[in-house]
Amino acid sequence: MRQTISRPRSIRTTIVPPGDKSISHRAAILNAIAGGEARVENFQRSADCLATVRCLKLLGCELAWENDTTLRLGGHGLRGLHEPSAVLDCANSGTSMRLLSGLLSAQPFFSVLTGDASLRSRPMGRVVEPLRSMGAEIRGREGDTRAPLAIHGGGLEGIRYRLQVASAQVKSALLLAGLYAEGETLLEEPVQTRDHTERMLAAMGAAVESGEGLVRIRQQRGELQPLTMRVPGDISAAAYWLALGALHPDAEVRVSAVGVNPTRSGVLDALKTMGADVSIEEERMWGPEPVADVTMRSSRLRGTVIGGEMVPRAIDELPLLALAACFAEGETVIRDAAELRTKESDRIRTTARELRRLGAEVEERPDGWRIEGPQRLKGAAVSSHGDHRLAMMLAVAGAVAEGETVIRKAEAVAVSYQRFWRDIEAVIGGGRA
Ligand code: S3P
Repeated sequence: MRQTISRPRSIRTTIVPPGDKSISHRAAILNAIAGGEARVENFQRSADCLATVRCLKLLGCELAWENDTTLRLGGHGLRGLHEPSAVLDCANSGTSMRLLSGLLSAQPFFSVLTGDASLRSRPMGRVVEPLRSMGAEIRGREGDTRAPLAIHGGGLEGIRYRLQVASAQVKSALLLAGLYAEGETLLEEPVQTRDHTERMLAAMGAAVESGEGLVRIRQQRGELQPLTMRVPGDISAAAYWLALGALHPDAEVRVSAVGVNPTRSGVLDALKTMGADVSIEEERMWGPEPVADVTMRSSRLRGTVIGGEMVPRAIDELPLLALAACFAEGETVIRDAAELRTKESDRIRTTARELRRLGAEVEERPDGWRIEGPQRLKGAAVSSHGDHRLAMMLAVAGAVAEGETVIRKAEAVAVSYQRFWRDIEAVIGGGRA
């Protein structure tokens, strides 16, 4: 599918973003092994989260939609899953595959995880290796580093393990395995990554503690309490609207009830440091997670350096920050982000390539980009490379560039934001070619 987009004269809008992707996956997986029924509102009904739902159904979990975004889950307890009768297809979703690999490593049965061509090319050794050292039998392609993964689980023992990459997916896989493992599992995180799993597990009564770079979980004795909650708005989806507000010369964009967990809100901090006119109001808790209403107005941005601990806090928003850097006065360097090469596309390469098609000068580096601004972007034909985050970043670029931009493979947005094109059409107009 192609989508055509051009710059509107002005933007005044309030957006309700879809539920958070990371939290939706976790709400489904954790409630699937809880000891009773839970209700999850504002669940992200995207291709990625629906892949998790399908896998859990095949594992025997009862899931039913109460309405479009409310999911009821009947947890049959920690030992309530059964051997799936078919291969578990995670489609494009790294979170489904990595989190489920941890859960399945603890189950006394055989299962196979696969996904689409992009997911099958992504690194899985980072979960396979520590899960094996806990006692799981896992085989995979390319020396057990790529899916499909075949797992025979059960009989795990707790380990002490230093994460080799800053990855919440790996941490969460090991915490899920650690729930079942004999004794204690102690994880050392070189840099803090998103902590949704820890917050939700703690709210369900698990013995999980974190601080000073360590996360500890003890084997779960009783059943987990079901976690009925409303999923906060996805800051990774809201970020496109906020960037649009900052970059467009006449805009005010309000995003309501968006998750502002500090392990996720790096994009807000980065934009603030760049001089963005942003206000964060009405901070409140939705279950174990903070939400707030965020308003962004047209801003004059200046260049900055984004690296170190900021990188995991804004990992999925870095291509968007690269776009913002094109409009900022002076030099922006985004570094320490080589992980972007292992995402749904090689985001360092695809972001540089597509921004160049729009006339931007972008220096591609092994671990990020260097961008000198401000620059003028001109509409052109671009491609998402089948990557949802690229598609949405390019839509924002098209909405602030001169002239018309045509985005190929625009359907990729459905991976995390089904309504994206409808929402953007409502805000700025546009048409399908
Ligand atoms: C996610 C963690 C991040 C992020 C992904 C979602 C999660 O991946 O990029 O979109 O839900 O835990 P890594 O853990 O591979 O960094």
